[in-house]
Amino acid sequence: MAKKKEIDPKNYALCFIPVPVYLISTISEDNIFNIAPYGMVMPVSYNPLIISVGSARNRDTYKNIVDTHEFVLNVPSTELLRKVNRTADPIPSEDDEFIHAGLTPIDSKTVKAPRIKECSAHFECKTIWIREISKEAKNRDIIIAKVVALSLDKNLFLKNICKQKGLMSPIYYERDSYFTLGSYIGNRRMR
Ligand SMILES: Cc1cc2nc3c(=O)[nH]c(=O)nc-3n(C[C@H](O)[C@H](O)[C@H](O)COP(=O)(O)O)c2cc1C
Repeated sequence: MAKKKEIDPKNYALCFIPVPVYLISTISEDNIFNIAPYGMVMPVSYNPLIISVGSARNRDTYKNIVDTHEFVLNVPSTELLRKVNRTADPIPSEDDEFIHAGLTPIDSKTVKAPRIKECSAHFECKTIWIREISKEAKNRDIIIAKVVALSLDKNLFLKNICKQKGLMSPIYYERDSYFTLGSYIGNRRMR
């Protein structure tokens, strides 16, 4: 077994596993559409379906969520990588990020924030609570939200999970680098 080595928390990326990337779409109080990539997203309850999002307060996304109490979590595929990067460009709040990134808004079923047509799955969310993470992590909040509607591209209704996730082709990231999903390695019945 390898010997353990202490690591400065600044080098966290050496220890973490890459996380999936979602695109969060929101609408401002002035009805301007916004998109941003988010990696700090995690389900915290499956039934009811509740998710958490870690956000800096200086994001337009954060402001829109605080103002409107809703957002859509969209799943982009690896094909959309360049557009995902464009949604992270620091553009003025008055500019529509769908136009900037070349993505298409479609109406959501239950919230005013639009879904992103080119993405494969859409979690329409309403906030339950938003809180500061800690005094030390100033300007960083955790958002807890309930998924009130969910939609998926029709061609992704497949029982075969390998095929389904393969077609979905999610993006993972860590710091500056992107990855794709690895291979199927087994199931929960294995001992
Ligand atoms: C792949 C990726 C993942 C990101 N994840 C987060 C995140 O989880 N939380 C966060 O506050 N910012 C995150 N960011 C940074 C924001 O997406 C970025 O600052 C963006 O410009 C914010 O846009 P907005 O001001 O339109 O909301 C991420 C950026 C990238 C490229």
